[in-house]
Amino acid sequence: MEISSNCKPTKILTCYFNSVTSKCLFLAAIALFIRSLFIPPFSAFGVRNDVVFIHNRSLSHAANDSPTRNDKFLEVPQIIWGLNNQKIAFARSCLTARMLNRILLMPRLSATLFYKEVDLLEPISFDKVFQFDRFNSICNGFVQLGKYSDVTNRSDVFELPKGSGRRWTKERDLEQLEEHKKDPIDKHEVIRIVGKHPFVWQDHWPVKDYAKVFECLVLVDEIMAEADKVVSRIREVGAEESRKLEPAKASLNPHTLSFVAVHMRVEKDWMIHCKNLERKSNINQICSSKEEIMERVGNIVGLKTPTLVYLAVADKLLEDSSILSGWRDGLIPLEKKKLGVDVVYKKYPYLIQSAIDYEVCFRADVFVGNTFSTFSSLVVLGRTQKMLSLGFKSSCGEEDVRWPSYAYNLLGESNGPKRWFINMSDSSLRAVSYGTNEISC
Ligand SMILES: *[C@@H]1O[C@H](CO)[C@@H](O)[C@H](O)[C@H]1NC(C)=O
Ligand SMILES: *[C@@H]1O[C@H](CO)[C@@H](O)[C@H](O)[C@H]1NC(C)=O
Ligand SMILES: *[C@@H]1O[C@H](CO)[C@@H](O)[C@H](O)[C@H]1NC(C)=O
Repeated sequence: MEISSNCKPTKILTCYFNSVTSKCLFLAAIALFIRSLFIPPFSAFGVRNDVVFIHNRSLSHAANDSPTRNDKFLEVPQIIWGLNNQKIAFARSCLTARMLNRILLMPRLSATLFYKEVDLLEPISFDKVFQFDRFNSICNGFVQLGKYSDVTNRSDVFELPKGSGRRWTKERDLEQLEEHKKDPIDKHEVIRIVGKHPFVWQDHWPVKDYAKVFECLVLVDEIMAEADKVVSRIREVGAEESRKLEPAKASLNPHTLSFVAVHMRVEKDWMIHCKNLERKSNINQICSSKEEIMERVGNIVGLKTPTLVYLAVADKLLEDSSILSGWRDGLIPLEKKKLGVDVVYKKYPYLIQSAIDYEVCFRADVFVGNTFSTFSSLVVLGRTQKMLSLGFKSSCGEEDVRWPSYAYNLLGESNGPKRWFINMSDSSLRAVSYGTNEISC
């Protein structure tokens, strides 16, 4: 599971919030760099076998006055930290390449988590996790990935060191990028960014640009098949358990059972981290105890019983059987061990385990997470996007909502968790990447 936020040096957070930005400059910058409008041509999701498939879809390019040049590349440092921080870092690299009008050379991700010892970071190629061709086909006209074999002259490289520290403002960063769009630097076949890794770069793009990149990330078949397996097991085991509870429903069809996924963050190191965060930020709605999560999930308005509750928890919590008791009658808690899928997970490194869990939470009928977790936030971003692309409104009312998401760290109606959408018109990803308790609804 994502424990990335624990690893994040708190300094970054402070730096981030300290960076004062001029809104005007920022908007002007956006206007400059968004040269074309992208309207998803059709709703791209279909429901089959209770599984949501993303169909063939490309981002159409209306006014393609600035196509990505196919002979100029951008290279970025290895991407590190938790899966979702890696996704954000990857998207930031893509958007930087887009701004420089270059192809992004397929970056290396990290299979393991960052624990200060950089030597222990096991690199994993992007295309071992996500489909390379699908990425380029869906993101066609927006951003493109290239391979090192596409580079004709490997010594024609210009190195771009990213600035750092308090004085390295967003404006200076933007100026630097502008400078690298011009000759003579622009003539180089490859611009290689050296130094800091992309998650901590200055951010210049609105949420919807990030969302566009995330839409193009489709898991490779092998990992997707593992996620399918987990979802099927949730319904099978859930159906057995429901029959035990209510024998009258013996004919229950597992495929019609809905499930709630709860990204339950109650492990000790998270608790220490979130208590610190509460103290520093003067916000007291970050940490939720096990009991509070169970109570709020049980109070979700309109939950039919029996309901399956999949607990997406950190591995170390799998040894703690108390997370399976204390749930309201009619809620059937399930975790990896009870589903018998812990062996599936153990085959894979951290990054892939996390990718499978993301997919399961993304597909759940209802998702409940913590607004201070990047993992939860990106799941909700994905679900908001899925809902919008199917033509549902992200309204806060109960009606007309498919795949609702909730935040258990915030109190909502009837003592339940608060309804949660990601504001797709937000001008920055800050709320998503660093957490907030101000959410739409
Ligand atoms: C997907 O779209 C592309 C371009 O629009 C097309 O060439 C391709 O055949 C499509 N693939 C499928 C599976 O429909
Ligand atoms: C490759 O790039 C280097 C550095 O810019 C240049 O000196 C060299 O002539 C280039 N080689 C070819 C074959 O273009
Ligand atoms: C979404 O963000 C935009 C831009 O920051 C803001 O104007 C709008 O009020 C926000 N909407 C909600 C529902 O918070």
